[in-house]
Amino acid sequence: MSRIAYLTTPLYYVNGQPHMGHAYTTVVADVLARYHRLDGDDTYLLTGTDEHGEKIFTAAAAVGLEPQAYADGIAATFVEAWKELRISNDDFLRTTEARHISVVTSVLQQVYDQGDIYFDEYEGLYCVGCERFLTDREIVNGKCPDHGTVPEKRKEGNYFFRMDKHRQWLAEHIRTTPGFIRPARYANEVLSILSESIGDLSMSRPRSRVPWGIGLPWDDDHVTYVWFDALINYVSALGYPDGELFGRYWTQARHFIGKDILKTHAIFWPTMLRAMGAPLYAGLNVGGFLMGSDGQKMSKSLGNVVNPFELSKRYSADAVRYYLAKDVPYGQDSAVSEKALVERYNADLANDLGNLASRARALLLRHLDGRLPEPVQTDADQAVIATGIGLAAHVREQVGALRLSAALEEVMQFVRQLNRYFNDEQPWVLAKNEASKPRLGTVLYNCVEGLRITSILLEPALPDKAVQLRDSLGLKGGDLASTETWGLAPAGTVIPAEAALLFPRAELEETQAGSQPAAQPVAKTEKKREKTEKSGPAAGDGQISIDDFNRVELRVAQVVACEAVPRTDKLLKLTLSLGDLGERTVVSGIAGSYAPQDLPGRRVVLVANLQPAKLRGIVSQGMILAAEDDDGNLALVHPDKELAPGARVR
Ligand code: MSP
Repeated sequence: MSRIAYLTTPLYYVNGQPHMGHAYTTVVADVLARYHRLDGDDTYLLTGTDEHGEKIFTAAAAVGLEPQAYADGIAATFVEAWKELRISNDDFLRTTEARHISVVTSVLQQVYDQGDIYFDEYEGLYCVGCERFLTDREIVNGKCPDHGTVPEKRKEGNYFFRMDKHRQWLAEHIRTTPGFIRPARYANEVLSILSESIGDLSMSRPRSRVPWGIGLPWDDDHVTYVWFDALINYVSALGYPDGELFGRYWTQARHFIGKDILKTHAIFWPTMLRAMGAPLYAGLNVGGFLMGSDGQKMSKSLGNVVNPFELSKRYSADAVRYYLAKDVPYGQDSAVSEKALVERYNADLANDLGNLASRARALLLRHLDGRLPEPVQTDADQAVIATGIGLAAHVREQVGALRLSAALEEVMQFVRQLNRYFNDEQPWVLAKNEASKPRLGTVLYNCVEGLRITSILLEPALPDKAVQLRDSLGLKGGDLASTETWGLAPAGTVIPAEAALLFPRAELEETQAGSQPAAQPVAKTEKKREKTEKSGPAAGDGQISIDDFNRVELRVAQVVACEAVPRTDKLLKLTLSLGDLGERTVVSGIAGSYAPQDLPGRRVVLVANLQPAKLRGIVSQGMILAAEDDDGNLALVHPDKELAPGARVR
């Protein structure tokens, strides 16, 4: 990574509310910006709104508002949207701001004065969605492929920017500057466009037709074409040409865009910069499209948008950010759904990460007075330590290559390694006698130190949860370099006795139906899980490895108390003793087969490391096992000898 980073999102049109496509591009740029900052880079993130042009004028007129008042309203929703998703932008530029208009005006005058703009009549096919004339090559089956609309035939007197003359050097620059346009296939797409004449760019619109735009300084009957205005935001926000920010950041600019606006950014913008006498940006990063459930591009015009902000309110901003960064391979089209978000969240965050943190915390609080002990490392600890301190280098490399998904996966693999280490070392067994307490301390120390490293490496994607995770372990944050040393979690750190549940398990049915989860007999829950595993990619033919099985912590528990859950006919609330491991509350759907008074004193088998879930307002801390036959007869599983509560079942 460079030591200076200037990252930009597109400026979003204000003709509709922010949606998933906007959120995706903005989240990607934000996660990248946060990685840069974490690595000590001087970083600046710009986003904003594109407010001029025919499209906005028409949208404002449709709701009976002046364009400025209309733009003010929508721009405010973008500001709110980015707050909701924890976007850490350093600036938010609106193209109707004076600081932008003045830069556009002086650029126009300069380019006009040097003879790079001329007046001409033009007749062609115009797409209002794209706000430009389309070339024959761009039209597919008589329609604009991006908007699905038939372009209108228009004849207009317009000013033209001499763009065609820049074709050769631009192609040469793209060919000789690897990484100028990423992924590389988009560079090839641009080179193919540049292999033929690109024509000059119609850069004005008659004010009589489009009254909403920046007037040309030499001819007020024309306004600036919205793209010639909007692209300049990337430098006007930095105070071009003399601003301190411009001097500091511009040559390191990396734009993040969707593939729909490749041509404007890869051809119009570099040629404009050359005409302005300004250096080119450093890179253009092109994302694919997020598709809706209908397999179509999500877009305002097609009306199939998914609202990321509702998902954020339901599952947390971090859940949405993590899902977008982890599941959408950068540059490729990808279908997104709430269901996939919930699956990703439960698998990576609730199960792998959240469980490890809560298990390590619980044992420290119960057996080591809630203090992080001084570790005594052994050979058995070296593998975990080596992976942990080597991670930053991998993450840097993946992030540098825009492989966010791979970067996050590297960290999650480490979390899974820590879970295996935890299970192999069996700290709950070590806790049983005094002689093994030092070893218990080392194992738990290493888990906490691993979680410290993990929290820092995941923080760009999980800005809130990473901090909460550290808070729950009494730890402080750090930069990327601080993950390259093992042992920075200070021995003696106090583990807070109370901590909010980090990643409560998400239930799709509950949220989609807008109701409480259906009370399910445990045996049915088991069946459902089996189904998911069979269809899951890792399960193959439905078999699981012994490691998979060992991740499930089954224990003998004794029922201490039991009562029916009010206003349900299926649920019982059980208080279970796990001996030395304390007590648990579990809600179970067995009321149809067992009366509350029958259960106290009985031994049952508990899944002890299940992520807690809220059922009818009660936090259920595990699940008891029962068998169910085809007729719905239900029988609790219990050991056939009176083993002490807490005994492990394998
Ligand atoms: N205003 C112009 C950009 C000017 S930049 C100087 C514009 N705005 S837009 O509101 O239409 O948003 C464009 C960007 O939003 C796309 O380039 C892309 O980054 C993002 N997306 C919009 N819909 C999208 C998807 N369905 N999927 C992924 N991103 C898409 O164009």
